[in-house]
Amino acid sequence: MDSIIAVRDLTLNLGGDRILDDMTLDLWPGHVHAVVGPNGAGKSTLASCIMGLPGYRGYEGRILFEGRDMADMGVDERAHLGITMAWQEPARFEGLSVRKFVLCGSPRDDEETAAEALELVGLSPDTYLERAVDDTLSGGERKRIELASILTMQPKLVMMDEPDSGIDVEALRRIFEAMRELRAKGATVLLITHSVTVLEQADHAFLMCCGRILEKGETEEIKKFFGEKCLPCDHQNRPEEGGR
Ligand SMILES: Nc1ncnc2c1ncn2[C@@H]1O[C@H](COP(=O)(O)OP(=O)(O)O)[C@@H](O)[C@H]1O
Ligand SMILES: [Mg+2]
Repeated sequence: MDSIIAVRDLTLNLGGDRILDDMTLDLWPGHVHAVVGPNGAGKSTLASCIMGLPGYRGYEGRILFEGRDMADMGVDERAHLGITMAWQEPARFEGLSVRKFVLCGSPRDDEETAAEALELVGLSPDTYLERAVDDTLSGGERKRIELASILTMQPKLVMMDEPDSGIDVEALRRIFEAMRELRAKGATVLLITHSVTVLEQADHAFLMCCGRILEKGETEEIKKFFGEKCLPCDHQNRPEEGGR
């Protein structure tokens, strides 16, 4: 099997610090992967490099998408290839209706598509379609609406940065369901997390600390390492949920 994303010797310096240090990893098509590690390990930075965000394109090494080096591609071009990202703090598009937001990257532009996606993330279309995307929505609602918009894009790669942050158990259950739906449709998923609950959703995992990959393997195996193994550094590398 060929990887959908191949990261090769990825190194990134920002503000005089080495944030990513010679990272090599593969993501396999249709699988769910997790990058797990303590705060400040460089997880979000890795996702930003794969997404090609401004400020994160000056890396050394290579990031290949389906065998193609993306060095010259900006974020729009990468999005066009089917690379998407659900942010830890969802972006705000004040004033836009939920319906417009959910369909903004969709190849199909009809109400049914928007309604289906909302239902998948557990939000009633009758209640939400005509609401505005603004701060009257809770953090959990915004995260779910963002994921609904990703569902309609039919992406090839979905990166989800700390999908459990700031949301309740029910919202997280819906987010996991939507993630499984994405995978069922053939998408590759990359979960970025410091939570064991999120890690457990993955087929494969990478343990990351201080900008480096320390271990890679099956989720169960990586779970054992998480909380035990970290480079000598200041991180309190402890899983949140009671020392599992
Ligand atoms: N644009 C930037 N400029 C300087 N330092 C940055 C920048 N982005 C991230 N960092 C630093 O990189 C390190 C890793 O950050 P991040 O990738 O957000 O970690 P994580 O997502 O694992 O918590 C942190 O020390 C952070 O301060
Ligand atoms: Mg982060």
